[in-house]
Amino acid sequence: MKTVTKAVFPVAGMGSRFLPATKASPKEMMPIVDKPLIQYAVEEAVAAGIRDMVFITGRNKRAIEDHFDKAYEVEAELTARGKNELLELIQNIIPKSVNCVYIRQPEALGLGHAVLCAQPAVNDEVFAVILADDLIDGTPPVLRQMTEVFERHQSPMVAVQQIPREQSLQYGIVKTEPVTIGLDRVMGIVEKPRPEAAPSNLAVVGRYILTPRIFHHLAQAKPGAGSEIQLTDAIASLLAEDRVLAYTFKGTRYDCGSKLGYLQATVAYGLKHPEVGKGFERFLKSL
Ligand code: G1P
Repeated sequence: MKTVTKAVFPVAGMGSRFLPATKASPKEMMPIVDKPLIQYAVEEAVAAGIRDMVFITGRNKRAIEDHFDKAYEVEAELTARGKNELLELIQNIIPKSVNCVYIRQPEALGLGHAVLCAQPAVNDEVFAVILADDLIDGTPPVLRQMTEVFERHQSPMVAVQQIPREQSLQYGIVKTEPVTIGLDRVMGIVEKPRPEAAPSNLAVVGRYILTPRIFHHLAQAKPGAGSEIQLTDAIASLLAEDRVLAYTFKGTRYDCGSKLGYLQATVAYGLKHPEVGKGFERFLKSL
């Protein structure tokens, strides 16, 4: 029986929707309250029992590597000032047993190309892909829900949610047949179809569990929607030889790749934050 041992984080994207905030710093480092988006994503992988994190980075992404590395100067300062709680906080961003691998994607040729760049680090293992823009508040965390389903079914899987049909141009859309409650079999998948051409209103969100066979399909994929190498197209090609599942996750997803979704996440996470939640709620009520 196979288990998911690695997670791939495609983080080379430019973040143009958040310019100028993302001019010199990665969009994945934007905080929701006090933690950057990429840290939520890595914590979700850790909660799913994953220890090997593979980041596909690009120019201007050094801050991500620094975030998961030791910070000698900050640690020395905090030690000198006796700020032990903060010291512990930054020393334990990830458990000591976690390995981080960074691979540069020289050109932003698309999500599929980014995942293909992870092949030397993934090899023959089953792996997860997490898009940090899709922040999902779930109990248990969504990737954990998915690895549990994977352990039972041993099939590649995408997370899906219902969307208003008019938003189909923003997503990969699946055509499915039911397997059990919350679990369907993918019969077709298409990247960013027009609403009238969309096979359903079930959209892929940024969580995938993939088997190494996907690399073969990615290597063959031609540029698709937006002239990019699309992961969706490689999954469509995989359907001819393997069963792929669509998992309807339990949780709330915030599209932090959009300004509105980012603000919604900030409000939701702010309200339940142990330190500022109560004060923030009073403030919102007073508006
Ligand atoms: C990517 C995928 C798309 C998926 C979406 C989820 O698109 O290509 O299939 O539905 O993530 O967030 P992007 O948002 O990078 O354009």
